Amino acid sequence: MDAEKIRKVACIGSGLIGASWATYFILKGLEVNLYDVKEEFLASGNARIDKNLDFFEEKGIIHSDERKEISSRLSLTPVIGDAVRDAQFIQESGPERYEIKRQILSEVEKDAPAEAIFASSTSGLLITEIAKEARHPERCLGAHPYNPPHLIPLVEMTKGEKTSPEALQCAYGFYKGIGKEPVILQKEALGFISNRLQSVLYREMVDLVLRGVCSVEDADKALLYGPGLRYGIMGPNLIFQLGGGNQGIRGMINNLVAPSNAMWLPDMAKWEKIPDEWADIAQAGVDEEMKNRSPEQGRTNEEIIRFRDEMLVQLLKLHGKF
Ligand SMILES: NC(=O)c1ccc[n+]([C@@H]2O[C@H](COP(=O)([O-])OP(=O)(O)OC[C@H]3O[C@@H](n4cnc5c(N)ncnc54)[C@H](O)[C@@H]3O)[C@@H](O)[C@H]2O)c1
Repeated sequence: MDAEKIRKVACIGSGLIGASWATYFILKGLEVNLYDVKEEFLASGNARIDKNLDFFEEKGIIHSDERKEISSRLSLTPVIGDAVRDAQFIQESGPERYEIKRQILSEVEKDAPAEAIFASSTSGLLITEIAKEARHPERCLGAHPYNPPHLIPLVEMTKGEKTSPEALQCAYGFYKGIGKEPVILQKEALGFISNRLQSVLYREMVDLVLRGVCSVEDADKALLYGPGLRYGIMGPNLIFQLGGGNQGIRGMINNLVAPSNAMWLPDMAKWEKIPDEWADIAQAGVDEEMKNRSPEQGRTNEEIIRFRDEMLVQLLKLHGKF
């Protein structure tokens, strides 16, 4: 199937991620059938979508006169067959459990058109496992968004053992065509790329706090006002290319990164399970950090989400994404 032919998407699951995907798809001119197991879940998904659109309107990303048309592209249904029957693309965002994702896929396959692509938002499960009982595993793939998908462009795409190159290319073209930045993993890997990178960074941060090197708040600050600012502009390899001056990343690695890493890597965290006491320590540290934020930066979850989304929109505008 050609990516341009995809006009209708079924979003399965209307939670945090499903509602966010649905917002993005209707914003980009696609028709969306949103499904969840109960009317009340659909209602709260719908309320999230409305809130997301309010935000887009307030930020000038959409105009009030186009709002009605955008909203009209969304249909809600508690019947999965009705959601997928006329969809060319299925974005699954149900709970992160193999048995539920397999059950969703088997229900989807009863009614979805023969050529429809099934893309799972899974954060780290293997698509080979999700699709192992599928009738058409060749049309199943992983498409992991970053929260919130209505703002963040990354989609990490994974192929299972039986995913066809055509389905992968079609899905890639589809995401690219609606302004996403998809990357395709050449091999399956639990946790994909970005969550694995995030995990090693987080492991080291936990270790630093537990060793008494810094507080939770200062660890966040060190990342935010240092490397984090650059990471919003380019990735770590390009950063090293610039850090190496005329010698590029090769010089940077030979002269600085390799010798210094030889000194401190042996001293760094290697444990494989987050220490049991960490969740409570982290919560206490974050509570303190939230108290110390300025009112403009927000002090409650709700306020900080708003602050985050406002900053994201400004940054994404600089990246030419809105
Ligand atoms: N939360 C994140 O930051 C994040 C980021 C990227 C990807 N993901 C992935 O997206 C998926 C959804 O995560 P979420 O955070 O939106 O979870 P969520 O709990 O907010 O939403 C899950 C939704 O699935 C619905 N659901 C339950 N059983 C279902 C079924 N049988 N069929 C269809 N829907 C069903 C629930 O009612 C709920 O609305 C997961 O696979 C998760 O790993 C999450």
